[in-house]
Amino acid sequence: MRDELKNLADLYYLKILSPDMKIDIHSLSRIFSDIGIYDENIKKLANLNAPVSREVLYYIFLKAYEVDKLHTFLNALSELVDVDLNALQKFLKPLGLAYVNGLFKKDLIKIGVLVSGRGTNLQAIIDAIENGDLRAEIAVVVSNKKNAYALQRAKDHGIKTVYLPPKKDEKREDYDKRLAEILHENGVALVVLAGFLRILSPWFVHEFEGRIINIHPSLLPSFAGLYGEKVHRAVIEYGCKVTGCTVHFVDEEVDHGPIIVQKCVEVSDDDTPESLAQKVLEKEHEALVEAIKLIAEDKIKVVGRRVIRK
Ligand code: GRF
Repeated sequence: MRDELKNLADLYYLKILSPDMKIDIHSLSRIFSDIGIYDENIKKLANLNAPVSREVLYYIFLKAYEVDKLHTFLNALSELVDVDLNALQKFLKPLGLAYVNGLFKKDLIKIGVLVSGRGTNLQAIIDAIENGDLRAEIAVVVSNKKNAYALQRAKDHGIKTVYLPPKKDEKREDYDKRLAEILHENGVALVVLAGFLRILSPWFVHEFEGRIINIHPSLLPSFAGLYGEKVHRAVIEYGCKVTGCTVHFVDEEVDHGPIIVQKCVEVSDDDTPESLAQKVLEKEHEALVEAIKLIAEDKIKVVGRRVIRK
């Protein structure tokens, strides 16, 4: 990534060296504040009226990339300087960008889906992508269970699958490191737990900080830590009148991180754990796709425990 970013910055650098250049440190600093990037160093350089050296330009590109705003930055920059698009095209893809209809855009977000079972939630993601409702790509589906039907669903749609069984007496973190390697190799930017029956280690949660989501079949924080029919049985036995599902970011505690989407269903007097599971499952499929869409379209941010619109 660093190399592509350097090359991209260099292309612009060569251009701004030319005598008709319209870019100085002030215009760059202004672009940053216009697009909501706050960087003390750039402000200092602007106060010093510093020249835009190759290093300074690379630093600016790196900052924009790190806060996931390289596309916005490039769009603003293109109003000041024209760069040969053919020359920069080859650097865009590795940086997760595309140039479409005259605008720089983020490329399709790459998702890694972790599963252990039947995979109806995975299917909902696949369907949404195929219908054009969700702009994303499933880069890989990983299962810790060999016979998970989810693997078959992925294969049926030409999606790469990996069966990753834990080794005998393997430490949780060691398994998670093997898992992370697969996800990194496939360029995964978002990890979706869709019925993955393993608890992730703090190491893994940090490795993909803020980029792991989970779907749970209750309205969290109620009925956390339970799985499958047990959740719905507990809901009925408690006498709840509503239940539902929650999609949340994953932190180090089980079923605990900031909530992205919740959907409710009513519990009727004649509901059984099975009937309730079915009703909730339908909502899960909607909620999970909705949450991935919000992330893919870069529409939300986390403030403390709250997930709010940008
Ligand atoms: C879902 O109920 C989900 O909430 C839970 O595991 C189940 C997975 O179902 N985390 P499926 O494999 O997606 O059909």
